[in-house]
Parts: sequence; structure tokens; C-alpha cells
Amino acid sequence: MALPKGRVLKDTRALLQEAGLEWEDLPDSDRRLIHPVRLPDGTDAEVLILRASDVAAYVERGVCDLGVAGYDTIVEQHADVFIPLDLQFAKCRMVVAGFPDIDPLALENPRIATKYPRIAQDYFLSQGAPAKIIALSGAVEIAPLVGLSDAIVDIVETGSTLRTHGLVEHQTIFEISARLVVNRAALRLRARAIRNIETRLERVLNARAEEAVCP
Ligand code: PRP
Repeated sequence: MALPKGRVLKDTRALLQEAGLEWEDLPDSDRRLIHPVRLPDGTDAEVLILRASDVAAYVERGVCDLGVAGYDTIVEQHADVFIPLDLQFAKCRMVVAGFPDIDPLALENPRIATKYPRIAQDYFLSQGAPAKIIALSGAVEIAPLVGLSDAIVDIVETGSTLRTHGLVEHQTIFEISARLVVNRAALRLRARAIRNIETRLERVLNARAEEAVCP
């Protein structure tokens, strides 16, 4: 199982444990990247803790049978994985953002800074405004401020980073959340074990949704 490290790991771990996965307590000092776990059906398994952007590659290539990946990375990588469940956490959105008085779609060949070059390229092409993409690996909000780009394509959660830098959202490209991703061959070869995990996760998600409606 491939899971993302960082802020999403806590929610991922809580969901899997609620669904019956046995996973020992982790002290903050724990630096292990491979963890033994027990699946709800009693089978022993291993969890790999990876960079969020690497999860889909491990699952697509079959090193891991399943994993949890952000929809942003799945789309950016055109990952060929089965996506049976929206896990309803790590919600944010992919947006075009920039200065309030400049709509990037109105520019001829806008310069767009982003950590998501394929998504940005595809979106601007689909809108009939081919963009010059400037691929960065983080802190993209700086790019328009210093004249590196006209606007950015990035994920927004609270909007606080944009506000802090005087930028606004112009267009929403799509909504994002954590998804269960499954290797296509494993889906056939380990159908029963995978279906069991899926069903248990679905039950937890349904119970959470009901709890949110009638607390
Ligand atoms: C993400 C994203 C924005 C910020 C948005 O960056 O790229 O910069 O979070 O969050 P907000 O809307 O709640 O302010 P991240 O923290 O992952 O850092 P990075 O730029 O180094 O990848």
C-alpha cells in the first residue's frame, strides 16, 4: 500500500484504522518509510510512506496494489490506475490565479507559473488561450509578484497564501480530494482482498457522511 507522507498522512491513517487496518502507534520520531500492517481480513501487508506525487507511480507500476493519492497528482501524471473511491479529505481546488485586474484568459500567450505543467497547458489550450508554461517546484505565488509569470495555476485550500500576496482566483479548473487508487492488474489478481478494503472504507465514509448530516 502506498501512502502520502506529510499533512495528509494523519487523515489517511485514521481512515484506514477506522476501516479495520491494524497499524502500531507511530512516535513523532519514527523515521521508517516502510511499515508492517495487518489488513482487516488478517493478512499481513506493508505500507510505503512516499512523497504524495510519487504514490500514483508506485501503484500504476504494480509495486503497490493500492494507495491514496491526491486527484491533482493523478490528473497531472495521467496515471493509469483505477480510482474506486473519493476519500472525502484533503479537499482543495485547482485554480488559475493572479492579479485582480488581469484575467489570464484574456491575454495572448499568457505566461503561467505552476507545479502542474500538464494541467495548466491542457486547461489554457482548452480555453483557446495557449500559454507559455513555466514549471516550478513550489512557492509559485512569488512568480507573478516578481514578473516571472502573468499568473499561476496552483492548488488552493484556504486561499490564505493567495490573499497574503495580493492575488485572487480567476477560474476553478477542478475540485480535488484524496482518492483510493488501485493497480489495474491487482484489481483482477487480488480482487477479493481489494474489494474487502474498498467495502470497509465505503462503510466508514458513509457513516461519516451520515454523522455530518445528523450529528
Ligand atoms: C500549497 C499550494 C499553495 C498553498 C495553498 O503549497 O501550492 O502554495 O498550499 O494553500 P492555502 O490556500 O491554504 O493557502 P504547499 O504548502 O504544498 O507548499 P509548496 O508550494 O512548497 O509545494
